[in-house]
Amino acid sequence: MFKADKTVSLLADSFRTHGYAIIDNAFHDDVPYVLSDRLNTLAEVDAMHRAGIGRRDDLTQREDIRGDEIHWLTDAHTSEALWVRTMAQLRIELNRHLLLGLFSYESHFSHYPAGAFYKTHTDSFRGEANRVLSTVFYLNPDWKEGDGGELVIYSESGEELERVAPVFNRLVVFLSEEFPHEVLPTSTDRYSIAGWFRVNTSSAERVDPPA
Ligand code: OGA
Ligand code: MN
Repeated sequence: MFKADKTVSLLADSFRTHGYAIIDNAFHDDVPYVLSDRLNTLAEVDAMHRAGIGRRDDLTQREDIRGDEIHWLTDAHTSEALWVRTMAQLRIELNRHLLLGLFSYESHFSHYPAGAFYKTHTDSFRGEANRVLSTVFYLNPDWKEGDGGELVIYSESGEELERVAPVFNRLVVFLSEEFPHEVLPTSTDRYSIAGWFRVNTSSAERVDPPA
């Protein structure tokens, strides 16, 4: 599923140095094409819904903050299952290389129609230790300079670190708590999968190794 072990070792190296990684041609071609087809079908049959912001009880739709429509991936559909399996394997590899103790993964397709954006935000709040690693995988075969929709990654003090074009088969991974980020307005349809590796919060208070 991965391009040999290259994806994993590049990811682990960059991650150790910067706390984030941007990997091109991340997976064998069947992975992005299968997912791209699936996402196009979902968009065509209107099976995506407007994304909200905030927590479950307090979910609001704010087009002035984010304008994408989403669909959560599950392993019930064969195409989506390919992604679920791929990321399950990546989770194991990341745990082996970086000892992160990642426990689960959740992800959704996103479609940003022309004009949509996602204002600067952080995916997890310090201390909640819930979403540990954020991933974004891009599915735009025809993206070109001027189309917009770049992901901008900032340092905690607000300095711009990276401006990432959402090009096909590119995977971005970053520490959820540490990097505020935004999606700049796109001028064309923009497709991606956003996901989060979580730790098992039920064991967050365990001292390991014991004192
Ligand atoms: C998100 C997000 C970034 C992107 O969905 O939380 O930040 O590049 N997405 O799509
Ligand atoms: Mn985000």
